Amino acid sequence: MKKSSNQRSKKNTNHPQTRNGRSGARMNQTSKSRSAKPAAPKPKPVKTKKSPAAASSEHTQVIQWYPGHMTKTKRRIEKDLKLVDAVAEIIDARIPISSRNPDIARLTTGKPRIVLLNKCDMADPRTTAQWVSFLSRENVRAIPVDCKSGRGVDRFVPVLTEMLSERIESYKAKGMVNPSMRVMIVGIPNVGKSTFINRISKKTKANAADRPGVTRGNQWFTVSKGFEMLDTPGVLWPKFDDQTVGEHLAFTGAIKSEVMDTELLAIRLLDLLKELRTSEFEERYKLSEDDFTLPSYELLEKIARNRGMLISGGEADSERAAYTLLDEFRAAKLGRITLEKP
Ligand code: G4P
Repeated sequence: MKKSSNQRSKKNTNHPQTRNGRSGARMNQTSKSRSAKPAAPKPKPVKTKKSPAAASSEHTQVIQWYPGHMTKTKRRIEKDLKLVDAVAEIIDARIPISSRNPDIARLTTGKPRIVLLNKCDMADPRTTAQWVSFLSRENVRAIPVDCKSGRGVDRFVPVLTEMLSERIESYKAKGMVNPSMRVMIVGIPNVGKSTFINRISKKTKANAADRPGVTRGNQWFTVSKGFEMLDTPGVLWPKFDDQTVGEHLAFTGAIKSEVMDTELLAIRLLDLLKELRTSEFEERYKLSEDDFTLPSYELLEKIARNRGMLISGGEADSERAAYTLLDEFRAAKLGRITLEKP
């Protein structure tokens, strides 16, 4: 069994830049991916062998995401940032590059930042460990967490305390007794911000009125003695004009399937799964050695047939198989797979 991940040659986790514009997401089909800016590092697709299967890679879709309300959100985050001592950024451990909004690093410059590699229960543990050490070399404290079960979440406060020890001491030196550190949680949609907040929340909210200068309506809650969080996380939409980033967000469900051609997306995912070749993938769909040499669209039909998904006349229901494949990938039923390596 081979478990590989996409390779990134540069040690830079910035996103490719993108356009800004009107709201909504749009998907087009095209025979070629959108060209990328040369300077911007981006996740690279898993290299496929020169086999008939490579033909399916020709059929890609350009996923474009136009976040219309980004400016307003960014302004709010910038305002609230003045009130916090640190930022907790939540990213998806399966796609640590694509699930980071490039604005977060810029907006939070100068603030101590902790990165939570969430959904680590669905990511390849070895690659998650590589991400933790990669980020530590960049002076970012990273903790793998599974907010659904709570695994790893108990490390959050101790790591924050260590990170902010100098700041806490300086407040004490200024005469503050038991200074309270404020932390803002940020991340793209669906990354698990609410799940994290629900898990750490002790449901003891302070009133916004107690906090001079706090954006009206903002609520704080105590996580642990000496730590408070804003209860509304800073939500930033993913930004990209790179095809791989868009696909990775779509594979993991960060972008909803309704805006995409599901069969094309499944075919692109199969291009990767054929290379990664986890035992779960092989066994779940009862795939033979020969099946791995099929072009991905034929493999999708094979999966449909193996699963008894047929339409009238005995034809394979590839659309149903595409939905199933994506659902099962998103639920980690095809193995713990990380699509992006440091
Ligand atoms: P958001 O606030 O950032 O938008 O994300 P949210 O917490 O709503 O989480 C999005 C989805 O991700 C939810 O699933 C949630 O259960 C799931 N999730 C969050 N953290 C983890 C994790 O560490 N591991 C796993 N496996 N899943 C996680 P959902 O299907 O949309 O909702 P639900 O049916 O689980 O309630």
